[in-house]
Amino acid sequence: MTDLTSLEAELTGAVASAADLPALDAVRVGALGKTGSISNMLKSLGSMSPDERKTAGPAINGLRDRVGALIADRKAALEASALEGQLAAERLDLTLPAAPRRKGSVHPTMQVFDELTAIFAEMGFAVAEGPDIEDDFHNFTALNFPPKHPAREMHDTFFFNPDAETGERMLLRTHTSPVQVRTILSQKPPIRIVAPGRTYRKDSDQTHTPMFHQIEGLVIDRDIHMGHLKWTLETLIGRFFETDAVTSRFRPHHFPFTEPSAEMDIQCDRSGGELKIGQGSDWLEILGCGMVHPNVLRACGVDPDEYQGFAFGLGVDRLAMLKYGVPDLRDMFASDTRWLAHYGFSPFVAPNPASGLS
Ligand code: DAH
Repeated sequence: MTDLTSLEAELTGAVASAADLPALDAVRVGALGKTGSISNMLKSLGSMSPDERKTAGPAINGLRDRVGALIADRKAALEASALEGQLAAERLDLTLPAAPRRKGSVHPTMQVFDELTAIFAEMGFAVAEGPDIEDDFHNFTALNFPPKHPAREMHDTFFFNPDAETGERMLLRTHTSPVQVRTILSQKPPIRIVAPGRTYRKDSDQTHTPMFHQIEGLVIDRDIHMGHLKWTLETLIGRFFETDAVTSRFRPHHFPFTEPSAEMDIQCDRSGGELKIGQGSDWLEILGCGMVHPNVLRACGVDPDEYQGFAFGLGVDRLAMLKYGVPDLRDMFASDTRWLAHYGFSPFVAPNPASGLS
């Protein structure tokens, strides 16, 4: 019996100090396994006298049951703490915001396109498009640039090789104005469109890139005059800069496709190396405009005595630089992801007049 008592004490201690499941299993095998200490005692019952067995049997069986129960308890406790340890180690902080996998953003030029088209859409303009690769007729001739006219030189561009049969050279459009021609040829007045797009010239310096962006505007209807043009552009600039404080002026100019022609300047302050809109005594040219030249209407089959129109063309990259404080035009197209992350806009917030433009 003393044997049993000390064995029980020894096993109880071993179970309690088993640090993990494999250690506990080793204790179980040592006591209750095939040749374990308790199993061996149970086997020895067979060689005992019936009297000895009467007392030894229940004592050994009791020990086996108690040790078995201790092992089961310890096992459950070890399993619970193992699970807790695993949960603690694999803990996820769900309150942390997920790291964005993609950092795409809307380029300031595209943002300004969206802002301008939102403003024009509210004024009843539709969006029209034309190809980047144009022919001479749409880019020049129909716009009243006669062949060899010096104004063509300002539009020095990239020409393709002459066509083998016709000898005609296609070119990368130098402005979005050819979309005027395409629109007047394909639609009946009244016409009210804006045409955003890429344009190209053989130019590269601090303020010029070989590819840049313009938005063209065209209105053709009866009894259209400069007053309509002025109101439209002044309203546009106020909405775009989200202030009434912008002062503008129209300066006479020359474009072959408009008569009269003007450039629109906005008031600004350039002192201190910083450009501020709506104050100061400097002027910044932002667009060209005018009344559509009768020759353009005629080239497109519209009678200038019946219909008139106005048109305008804006440099969009410049407008984006102005509104969002971009210092160097060339950075706009350098595809530097750090620049894009800094100056880009969220693709999920499309500009619209209801929620704000920028
Ligand atoms: N096409 C001109 C340019 O590229 C801009 C322009 C001026 C467009 C006057 C117009 C306009 O529609 O009326 O410089």
